[in-house]
Amino acid sequence: MISQLADTVVTGNPTALAAAAVAGFFIFRFVRNLLGSSSLKGIPTVGVPNYPLGFYVGAWNYIKNAPALTQEGYDKYPGGVFKVPLVNQWLVILNGRELSEDLKKAPDDCLSMPSAINSMLHMEYTMGKDQYQDPYHFGVVRNTMTRNIGLGFPDMRDETIAAFQDLLPATDDWSASPAMENVIAIVSRISNRFFVGMKCRDPDYIKVTSEFTIKVTQDTAWLHGLPEFIKPLAESLFGHLETHTTAAMNHLQPILEYRLEMDDKYGPNWPNGDRPNDMISWLIDGARGHPMRRNIRSLSCTMLNVNFGALHTITQGVLHALYTLAVHLQYVEPLREEIESVVEAEGWTKAAIDKMVKLDSFLKESARYEPGTAVNVLRRALKDYTLSNGVTLPAGTLIGLPIMAQQHDEEIYENGESFDPFRYARMKETAEEGSNIQMTTTSTDFLLFGLGRRACPGRFLAVTELKLIMSHILLNYDFKVKDGVRPDNTWIAVAGSANPTAEVLFRKRR
Ligand code: HEM
Repeated sequence: MISQLADTVVTGNPTALAAAAVAGFFIFRFVRNLLGSSSLKGIPTVGVPNYPLGFYVGAWNYIKNAPALTQEGYDKYPGGVFKVPLVNQWLVILNGRELSEDLKKAPDDCLSMPSAINSMLHMEYTMGKDQYQDPYHFGVVRNTMTRNIGLGFPDMRDETIAAFQDLLPATDDWSASPAMENVIAIVSRISNRFFVGMKCRDPDYIKVTSEFTIKVTQDTAWLHGLPEFIKPLAESLFGHLETHTTAAMNHLQPILEYRLEMDDKYGPNWPNGDRPNDMISWLIDGARGHPMRRNIRSLSCTMLNVNFGALHTITQGVLHALYTLAVHLQYVEPLREEIESVVEAEGWTKAAIDKMVKLDSFLKESARYEPGTAVNVLRRALKDYTLSNGVTLPAGTLIGLPIMAQQHDEEIYENGESFDPFRYARMKETAEEGSNIQMTTTSTDFLLFGLGRRACPGRFLAVTELKLIMSHILLNYDFKVKDGVRPDNTWIAVAGSANPTAEVLFRKRR
């Protein structure tokens, strides 16, 4: 085989060269996987047949059956670890609360989140090199954006009403609505009202921002198959990043030019306090004194990255909640009663939304029950790391937590296999003063937003939007799904999605 490869390189036949490159690549991968597997050989494997190239058969099995195989490992190795094959690497899964605590406490230079996410999403090529190397927008989301949710709330509420009127006008008779298509458009409008003001009403801008995430995922799929050195060229030739950055720039250039010009003149204190209080201003604050951040291209791409974090995640939350509620219609009335009485007392404010305890509990239970992924809280060991159970993870190991299995574990949750919308509201009633039981609280028992220092900084906005959207639906519509059956989720490896093609039937509330 090696001499055949050498011959083709010497004779220079292009087809043979391409075949040689492909063969060489798979040999390289095969050897690397064997070496990788030998450094992890003390860790039991799930779903991989014990014969040559079994890794690839196992990877295919895992693409098709990740939730079931992860559950199998969780049941077989309680409190322990096991590994499963992804297409391009092993994933080691840590079971149970104690090991989740280990992961939570580990510093970034031991177990790194960016390194793990990069190996899954190839962020440098799919989301922008500067945004990957200098993610200052994470801090903007965590601090300035989160502090401003209350101030931005009236606009978000206004946009909720307008978006539903435009996209889902309430009719007297039942009419079918493609749920995912409409929910993503509504989430994009509400989020972008907060991020860029009335630009959110421009359908093409909304298309660009919401398509970005899908394109990142699509490019990621084929980039997985390529060797590292070809990825930059392949992405620039066939990828989406340049197209989407240019499209976002076309939309944002006039706004950004004006904002930067005013910022040069006045800094953050414009005359009459006229500076818009939005994501563009907050990013410009974060970019002051950093020429690499402070230009139209970089700011436009960073806006796409912020949208990446927000749109599909919130959309999934709404869809899971909606599909689940549509087959548990007995919970609609108690939710409506709570929303109506809170709004009557407080009006539509962020403080009122925070008081909707049953709605919070229902949304949290929906995310516990249907977290939308089999494994999350991904990290990569940057050096050898020994867990509290004595297992050492060699440097380079990709690890994650089995969110689905852990959140359904009957030892953690009483009747964990049943959907119980008000379980957290009941816990709150009996909990000690000051206990945090709301949806935004992260813990080893509720992993939707991750854990520790890297836990999702956008979760306060996410939950506000989830509640805004669900309360609007509850108060204004009756809804149901065809035949009263919850539309099936779809899965590719660990990544699940609420059914993307299902229709939900809506009519004006009677
Ligand atoms: C229901 C909606 C959302 C879900 C389920 C979600 C989930 C997550 C998860 C699991 C992580 C990784 C945490 C970890 O590994 O410990 C994360 C990180 C992140 N999320 Fe979210 N997210 C949501 C909404 C948002 C929104 C609305 C934004 C921004 C506007 C956002 C911005 C981010 C950012 C910037 C990070 C990276 C944080 C860091 O590395 O320090 N997310 N999110």
